[in-house]
Amino acid sequence: METIIEPFRIKSVEPIRMTTAQERAELIREANFNLFALKSDDVIIDLLTDSGTGAMSAAQWAAVQRGDESYAGSPSFYRFEAAVKNLMPFRHVIPTHQGRAAEAILFSIFGGDGHVIPSNTHFDTTRGNIEASGAEAYDLVIADGNDPASTHPFKGNMDLQKLAAFLDSYGDAVPCVMLTITNNAGGGQPVSLENIQGVAELAKRYGKPFFIDGCRFAENAWFIKSRERGQADRSIPEIVRDCFSLADGMTMSAKKDAFGNIGGWLALNDDGLAERARAELIRTEGFPTYGGLAGRDLEALAQGLSEIVDEDYLRYRIRANTYLVERLDALGVPVVKPAGGHAVFIDARAWLSHIPPLSYPGQALAVALYEIGGIRSCEIGTAMFGRQPDGSEKPAAMDLVRLAMPRRTYTQSHTDYIVEVFEELAKTKDKLPRYKIVKEPNLLRHFTCQFAPI
Ligand code: F0G
Repeated sequence: METIIEPFRIKSVEPIRMTTAQERAELIREANFNLFALKSDDVIIDLLTDSGTGAMSAAQWAAVQRGDESYAGSPSFYRFEAAVKNLMPFRHVIPTHQGRAAEAILFSIFGGDGHVIPSNTHFDTTRGNIEASGAEAYDLVIADGNDPASTHPFKGNMDLQKLAAFLDSYGDAVPCVMLTITNNAGGGQPVSLENIQGVAELAKRYGKPFFIDGCRFAENAWFIKSRERGQADRSIPEIVRDCFSLADGMTMSAKKDAFGNIGGWLALNDDGLAERARAELIRTEGFPTYGGLAGRDLEALAQGLSEIVDEDYLRYRIRANTYLVERLDALGVPVVKPAGGHAVFIDARAWLSHIPPLSYPGQALAVALYEIGGIRSCEIGTAMFGRQPDGSEKPAAMDLVRLAMPRRTYTQSHTDYIVEVFEELAKTKDKLPRYKIVKEPNLLRHFTCQFAPI
């Protein structure tokens, strides 16, 4: 059959509270035009993030009942550990309460003044943890990765020439090499197996440990299977094992491709590093057999890992995003192509060309999507990145709006509704107001700053 259906039935539902355009105009004004300040009950379709917002399966909820809450040595931990090692064959698996806690532990070891850490694109919490340690984070994604219109099949790839030059020029200042799969901050674009091999070889040649941020590893493996030569007949778990066998360790947010509402881990091969990491874990998260999670969470993740590599799920998952990209493209909305794994990105700077970057076209679009259709999205542009350390403002590289897709949560009719909201918006988009920021904190301003239309 041609139609790719949601490969699940709905067993338990959460009602959506419908609001009127009039109510939303009032609510967004009260939120000072910052979507993070909205109550989620006032949102019809919530695409703020795909992190921790997915639906758990009946088998996961059943596993929750099995959770053993022993402080040390719980069987839930051993089931979790076995599920991780089945896909990612690392010697040590250290649970954390979410991805950024794993990063904080990793960079308590590898960060520090004078160190420089390359990646394709560091996610903002990774960058934050690196910078908080005193080190610097560098993004070395291929040039196509910064071009919203390029249709390169692996726009998340690391630029290997740049990486080699970086390792040559920084030498001992580089403590490790990172790679984010898929490249979230670069549009959820995948990294090829060949590129992962290339990064691993370079890291080895220069004697640097190589770590993968594996948040969306299953989506990445699906792209490898469907786009990379010679991979079509291989199973997803095989491809996943190949990817992680090339690395010395990984950080993970289990709120993405482990179908968890919470959770993460740090995995390592080196015994000495693992000992240091566990000491830091005990200080900040918890004992090494629970690491900031309840036994029931570990059970849900173990089950989730067996479900995320299902090909029917991944085919539907990627097709759902591609469908939205195709529909928006047909409307003339400039979207980042090809569709990413977990989100659809709109080029707001191109679509709202009457709004200059310093008047936040991405924010204008995000606010309008809420006012017209109750959709909550996220600006990834000048409001998020424009503030400089000296307090001045500079346009970000791109002004994008991200529609992040929670896993197994919305259906095709929700997607058709999103398209209809864009159709409606297309009629008035040239009249959308510019915005200014009237109140902002010094750091990570986009979460709490207040906007006003001009
Ligand atoms: N790495 C990547 C690539 C991520 O996308 C995220 C989270 C993290 C690390 C941190 O994980 O949230 O469990 O601490 N991304 C979410 C998002 C928040 O909306 O993209 P965490």
